[in-house]
Amino acid sequence: MEASELKTFIQGIPKAELHLHIEGSFEPELMFQIANRNQIAMDYDSVEALKKAYNFNNLQEFLDIYYTGAQVLIHERDFYDLTWAYLTKVHDQNVVHVEVFFDPQTHTERGIGFDVVIKGIYSALERAKKELNISYKLIMSFLRHLSEEEAFKTLESSLPFKHWIDGVGLDSSEVGNPPSKFVNVFKAAAGHGYKLVAHAGEEGPADYIWEALDLLNVVRIDHGNRCLDDDNLVKRLLDKNIPLTLCPLSNLELKVIQRMEDHPVSKMLEKGLLATIHSDDPAYFGGYMNENYYATAKGLDLSKDQLMQLAINAFEASWLDPETKALRISEVKNYFNP
Ligand code: HPA
Ligand code: ZN
Repeated sequence: MEASELKTFIQGIPKAELHLHIEGSFEPELMFQIANRNQIAMDYDSVEALKKAYNFNNLQEFLDIYYTGAQVLIHERDFYDLTWAYLTKVHDQNVVHVEVFFDPQTHTERGIGFDVVIKGIYSALERAKKELNISYKLIMSFLRHLSEEEAFKTLESSLPFKHWIDGVGLDSSEVGNPPSKFVNVFKAAAGHGYKLVAHAGEEGPADYIWEALDLLNVVRIDHGNRCLDDDNLVKRLLDKNIPLTLCPLSNLELKVIQRMEDHPVSKMLEKGLLATIHSDDPAYFGGYMNENYYATAKGLDLSKDQLMQLAINAFEASWLDPETKALRISEVKNYFNP
């Protein structure tokens, strides 16, 4: 298929996004706008100068800039505008279901109330449900470079808003901060009814994926690139049908892979793993859902069947109720085989 034809085709696929950090959807233009109205000085003179800094050699170099960018978010309206901008953007890309991460500690550490953060995000998600027909789930992530005690405080702060939150996740600097560090807080989160996911095997080893499964009891692995290093782990992921939420452009930008041709997702599909594709931090990595599908399809020369499998897998791996899941999957199948 020609490039423009493939892009048009990808645009039309009904899509689900399951790995998206709302703070990572903060476009430079909106960042400057919010910084201005909050009278916060930016470290960069212009959008262009800021974008030039988006050149990362690893996860930590990205995280340093990502946390700095988030510092201009102060008021409920800021979190609302951030979330609404993301939702209108992906609505244009025919994304019909989202499961969004937010990092409360990135904000509460700066003295912003947990309530301010979640109210802004929640209002935008509710508006999108009504006006854009986008279904959603909300996932609160613990920052793994902080202590388990800090995560416990965050869990406590979340309880008044428990009815708005579907799950907890684990993100930030992976190497040196294994899932085992958060066993107790994940157990407590499960006790409060939260579903569990964790980033594992992005830069960290396959062992961290084992830990996320065996010690944290997660139902999904975010990234999970490194699982192919370990045949027994692949078998375990297959046996339990554990989804892997992959982020190809993120992997390329953070040098988890050197070239898109090396991305593991086609091997994962060959093995029958429940692999899916998402954008992670689209404002920083050069693309939202369509761009991730396109870069992957092109880099790995994916067939239509593989693209269909990826789109189906995302709904399969989602936390939608069984009826809606079946409906969305049938819509994907109809799109590919009208
Ligand atoms: N990995 C870990 N932490 C993150 C990421 C990621 O890809 N994006 C935002 N926080
Ligand atoms: Zn992520």
